[in-house]
Amino acid sequence: MIFRQLFDYETWTYTYLLADEQTREAVLVDSVKEQVERDLKLLSELELKLKYALDTHVHADHITGAGLLRERTGCQTGLSEYGGAHCADLNLQEDDELTIGSTRIRVLSTPGHTNGCASYLVGDRVFTGDALLVRGTGRTDFQQGDAGRLYDSITARLFTLPDDTRVYPGHDYKGHETTTIGEEKRHNPRLAGKSRDQFIEIMSNLKLAHPKKIQEAVPANLQCGLDRNEPRIVDHLIESSLTASEGHRELSPEGLRRQLGSVRIVDVREPSEFNDSLGHVPGSELAPVGTLSQAAQGWDREAPLVLVCRSGRRGVAGAQTLQGMGFKHLFNLTGGMLAWDKSGFPAETDHKPAGLENLRDEIFACYLQMNGSAIPDEGPMPNLEEMFRCCFEQADASFEKPTAEGLDAVLNRLRDQAVAAGLPGDQVEEHLSHFRKQLVRRI
Ligand SMILES: [Fe+2]
Repeated sequence: MIFRQLFDYETWTYTYLLADEQTREAVLVDSVKEQVERDLKLLSELELKLKYALDTHVHADHITGAGLLRERTGCQTGLSEYGGAHCADLNLQEDDELTIGSTRIRVLSTPGHTNGCASYLVGDRVFTGDALLVRGTGRTDFQQGDAGRLYDSITARLFTLPDDTRVYPGHDYKGHETTTIGEEKRHNPRLAGKSRDQFIEIMSNLKLAHPKKIQEAVPANLQCGLDRNEPRIVDHLIESSLTASEGHRELSPEGLRRQLGSVRIVDVREPSEFNDSLGHVPGSELAPVGTLSQAAQGWDREAPLVLVCRSGRRGVAGAQTLQGMGFKHLFNLTGGMLAWDKSGFPAETDHKPAGLENLRDEIFACYLQMNGSAIPDEGPMPNLEEMFRCCFEQADASFEKPTAEGLDAVLNRLRDQAVAAGLPGDQVEEHLSHFRKQLVRRI
């Protein structure tokens, strides 16, 4: 499992990223709105797909990034059903289970700091929010806080977990990162050897100042952290598009690329075209124009929707169909996949050009030439990826993050090799364009 503990210095908040290594599905726990760009960058760098943005409770000290993350990635947001945040996709209850790949996230109801606090148990780690902190607990003097309930949540729920369970809190103010259940049973000054009444007594005498952001944070968090006046995804799409008719707007390839992962993309071509040499826009779903009205029955009519076809015409027909069904925000990719391809943006496809093996030989020849070595006597032959890596390393300092110039240098050398080896020019170009599309995603 991939695991990261992230920190917001402004509000002393920990955000946790967990992800399944196989499926690359990820969850963020207690995101902070001001840190959403950091988190999105990390998700992208680690090639993860955010499935859930969970909160342990409605926070009073910072604004959650959950709503923004949902807009940007299409993830689901979730928190306790008692949190009162009706914007959430998931209203979680005790013992609910969510999964990211083969990893299970179990919901433990741990109220007391607020009425709607949940902890999340993932294997031998528990994310306790503000219910249990390192050598402390969350306060109980606002948001329906109740010291007795918090004592019960900690002692009857969290403290029944195995002693070596690692505890990851929502905040820390003293430089700690983590602790264990056993450690807190022994050393937490509010809990170790303390009765319920003693705990209530301690909590009623803390005399803490109210959090600075409480007036803005709680109402905002009840809206999943979104300010209704902020530009929404649909506003960004409108900015990058032109009105074409009353029913839809024409969206530029660049405008769509900026919102990839944030907006529903429907490809209205036929199944055979979806995986042809042009491929399809990453993340798009297939619904041929003839079956669109049936496919769209259960779709959200308020959410923005982008239609894609080959040249842009069937998309307009699709937009008219959907407009008749009451869809509010329809965008057609201007020029369709032809324009997308021309712009050099990445596409996905299962299509493999015929005669790939011939080019493979030529790439190998290029590899040998650039590598200055002979065919290995023993051991496996390098695969295509390894050969490309080698060609890249010769032409460009970093294969992991190649530059456009490096890519062109490699492709030009491959072209020379292939042409010199007598492969027909048009076949070579088709192959190179196929590889270019695959490799350009790394830039
Ligand atoms: Fe809190």
